[in-house]
Amino acid sequence: MSHSLESFFKPKTIAVVGASKNTTKIGHAALKNILISDYECKVYPINPHEKEILGVKCFKKITDVKVDLDLVLISVPAKTVPKIMLDCVKKNVKNVIIISSGFSEVGNHELEDEVRNIVEKSNIRVLGPNVMGYKNAADGLDASFVYGTARKGTLSLISQSGALGIGMIYLANNEFVGISKIIGVGNKIDIDDDDLIDYFAQDPDTKVIGLYIEAVKDGRAFMNSIKACQKPVLIVKAGRSSAGARATASHTGSMAGSDKIYGAAIKQAGGIRCRDVVELFDMARALAGQPPAQGNRIGIVTNGGGLGILLTDACEANGLRVQKLSDKTYKKIDKILPDLITPNNPIDLSADAGFYRYEAATRALLEDPNIDGIIVASVHGGYARPQEFTGAILKMIRERKLHEEYKKPILATWVGGKEFEDLVWDLKSAGVPIYPSSWRIARSMLALYLEGQRIKKESKKK
Ligand code: ACO
Repeated sequence: MSHSLESFFKPKTIAVVGASKNTTKIGHAALKNILISDYECKVYPINPHEKEILGVKCFKKITDVKVDLDLVLISVPAKTVPKIMLDCVKKNVKNVIIISSGFSEVGNHELEDEVRNIVEKSNIRVLGPNVMGYKNAADGLDASFVYGTARKGTLSLISQSGALGIGMIYLANNEFVGISKIIGVGNKIDIDDDDLIDYFAQDPDTKVIGLYIEAVKDGRAFMNSIKACQKPVLIVKAGRSSAGARATASHTGSMAGSDKIYGAAIKQAGGIRCRDVVELFDMARALAGQPPAQGNRIGIVTNGGGLGILLTDACEANGLRVQKLSDKTYKKIDKILPDLITPNNPIDLSADAGFYRYEAATRALLEDPNIDGIIVASVHGGYARPQEFTGAILKMIRERKLHEEYKKPILATWVGGKEFEDLVWDLKSAGVPIYPSSWRIARSMLALYLEGQRIKKESKKK
């Protein structure tokens, strides 16, 4: 395991080479992000022309700093990077982030090889080149040059694309998915996806791992890391189509490879493949907030017959089963709910369903041993008050005993407009994953089922 990355993610001393007083420069932004971080460390700006930057004493070169350096960020033009790397070797620096672009991604393989040769002969761990750096929200350190604060949580994200990585921070905040760490890997001359999966696998602040990849350099190491990881690994692999593969080559200079082979290998290793980053966040939200499903038998509670059918179709299309309820559950629901309700699966509570019907039907499904996961759905049909739908779910979520006893995931979905916004917010902030589409909720339930299967397989091995 890459325990060596501990000083990379939790450095006590950090230098920024190319720190600048010029507020438009990346070296300025990188230094500022570290200084405003809610994180205890010593910071050393490096610039040959300045005495201080942002009130912090400046040094002419790395080797002038008297203390040992855990992390160095480099933000100078690409051609200067080999010289800085040699200084880092001399100084015995532990970790380096090369922000600078201008290497293999623009066809400058010679310069990248020169840097790689220096790195390979040293003990330094290097991220990049061509990266944004990372944000360690769990510990409060921002070692990137980009703006944006991630909501603290348990998803650690690895992105081969810097810009997409940044977009994902904002998306995560919007989707109520808390981040532990988010990191751009760029051209991966040293620190690779497998090193990071290994690190996050043993990181107590990470519960779910997500990756955006265009290509992996060492397929075997990548698969082995996913296989060994005891946490869910969600993967968006870009370059599925031949045109997408062409775009990959010009973005990060990497070969997308056969999509079928990638798909089969990810599945075999126990990773979960996501269609896009929105799906990754949908699944991450379910996995971070809900227990995995022990099987694929899904119970649906809804106040709209049409929505129930759409949810059934979406579940079945994704390998989940929406089968008839047992006689025992049938009788229980028949007793507690009015005559007009047919205790089918989906259970149609009818358009005017209020708090009691939602709560009673969901509780009956929790108690049914033939149901592994529950979808609670609401259509704003004009009669029902949406608050009663969310209130019923929140009541059960807050009843910890129910969770501990049944260990079943509850996901929610709705069809409606603005009047649902505050209620969706209430559910999301209580950790209930809620989705605006039948397909998205079914895919997220699938992720919970696959995670349940992975855990079962692991426990059989022991
Ligand atoms: N040691 C220390 N400082 C130095 C050295 C040195 N050897 N040489 C130069 N400097 C100083 C410069 O004097 C300058 O400081 P100043 O503003 O006080 O004069 C500072 O370092 C920066 O050097 P510049 O030559 O001004 O370079 P600039 O900041 O314009 O560009 C950069 C450097 C940002 C690395 C650029 O070359 C680059 O690669 N930009 C792209 C970065 C990027 O996008 N990376 C991918 C991220 S992922 C994503 O897409 C978000």
